Amino acid sequence: MVRVALMGLGTVGGGVAELLAQHQEDIARRAGEGIEVAAALVRDPAKARALNGATPRLTTDPEEILGDKSISIVVEAMGGEEPALSLLKKALRRGKHVVTANKEVVSAHGQELFEAAMIHRCHLLFEGSVGGGIPIIAPLKHCLAANEIDEVSAVINGTTNFILTEMTVRGQDFAEVLGEAQARGYAEADPSADVDGLDAARKLAILASIAFNTRVTPAQVSTAGIRSVRAADTRYATELGRVIKLVATARRENGAVRVVVAPVMLPKDHPLAAVNGPDNAVLVRGQPVGRVVFSGPGAGRGATASAVVGDIMEIVRLRNRPDKSQCTCFTSRPVVAGDGRPAPFYARVRLPDGHGALERLTAAFAARSVALASVTRKSADTSGYEFVLVTRPADEGAVRAAIADGAADIGGSVALNVFRMEDGEMGTSR
Ligand code: NAP
Ligand code: HSE
Repeated sequence: MVRVALMGLGTVGGGVAELLAQHQEDIARRAGEGIEVAAALVRDPAKARALNGATPRLTTDPEEILGDKSISIVVEAMGGEEPALSLLKKALRRGKHVVTANKEVVSAHGQELFEAAMIHRCHLLFEGSVGGGIPIIAPLKHCLAANEIDEVSAVINGTTNFILTEMTVRGQDFAEVLGEAQARGYAEADPSADVDGLDAARKLAILASIAFNTRVTPAQVSTAGIRSVRAADTRYATELGRVIKLVATARRENGAVRVVVAPVMLPKDHPLAAVNGPDNAVLVRGQPVGRVVFSGPGAGRGATASAVVGDIMEIVRLRNRPDKSQCTCFTSRPVVAGDGRPAPFYARVRLPDGHGALERLTAAFAARSVALASVTRKSADTSGYEFVLVTRPADEGAVRAAIADGAADIGGSVALNVFRMEDGEMGTSR
């Protein structure tokens, strides 16, 4: 019997305890050995927990886990940087294999964790840290390892995808839907990590590090979230035959890796456009494989437990071969923030009544050599007019500079939102 300890018994840890209890016999058969939860580290042992038949022994003392030689696998599902990072390092130093769903720790401290794992001949697996229940880390590391990867683009935050979907389908505003995403267990303890794009940047850093075999950290990713997206934007996107998604993209360009997380307007037939609710999708383009798309539930109890328990079973099967989880960052490439490719842009602007405001703004676009494909008046009230401008393919810097120039000329800020518009697959902006 392999003894496992859980550090954290919330959405993910609770799901893991339940899954191991409920599918005990099948899991033992498939892993080659039985797996039992020896203990679970929590903050508050008195908290009511619905664990559907699982009855792990609770502790608030990490030493009860770290000092117990009979425990060979530690599953970290606490979240946050500390004490999670210190506990993971201690677990590895004491020869315990580690499974974690903590993208914050893996993305920022992957290198030191892998070094500790190598030195102490332990496995370090983290399938649940990206894409919830979607297998993506192992496929990238193993099944697609023969490819030269050109691009990974993904919808990898369930909370923001759930919010954007509700805004699009029900016309609700962002703040109304966030509470529901939290209640369903999708959001991080601090949901600003989801809403401001940081969670997606952490996941992208993990995917890019594996896909391009070079260390990419979240701080290197150009990151924008969905806080500024309004129901009006989702409505106008629909009118343009598009949907707004928070898209994380990493792509190879002249030996460097470009990384960006931002809200993007996708055409409805784009492979990432039909991913709704808390679902995620990861599109990988490589040679010789071509395009591969992984999709499924990106957050939530059962989905993430599926990935975490899969990692536990992998360790049970392979724990005498610790080279299996070696770090794959064996080269060093420059990392560049931002997409960098010209694309059409959507700009929702508010202009004051009179003074030739629209003419001044469009003149500013012309002065920056940004051609406009359409200018549509959307609404008017006593304080002015709302317009949607769609550009021809242009550099993002030129588009933003044109809006700033126009605003300066008009005498006030005008931009409400500016989004890149992608066509077809990512990488084929018109
Ligand atoms: P959660 O529901 O808030 O659960 C956190 C658990 O950790 C709780 O059981 C909590 O104890 C325990 N904990 C936190 N700090 C602790 C401390 N200092 N000492 C002891 N115990 C502590 O979080 P979650 O949603 O399961 O997320 C856990 C991790 O999985 C995070 O890294 C998250 O990013 C990642 N993840 C989550 C999802 C998802 O859909 N939720 C999906 C993929 C990955 P109490 O129960 O006593 O409060
Ligand atoms: N908060 C994360 C999300 C959980 O919404 O995607 C899954 O990693």
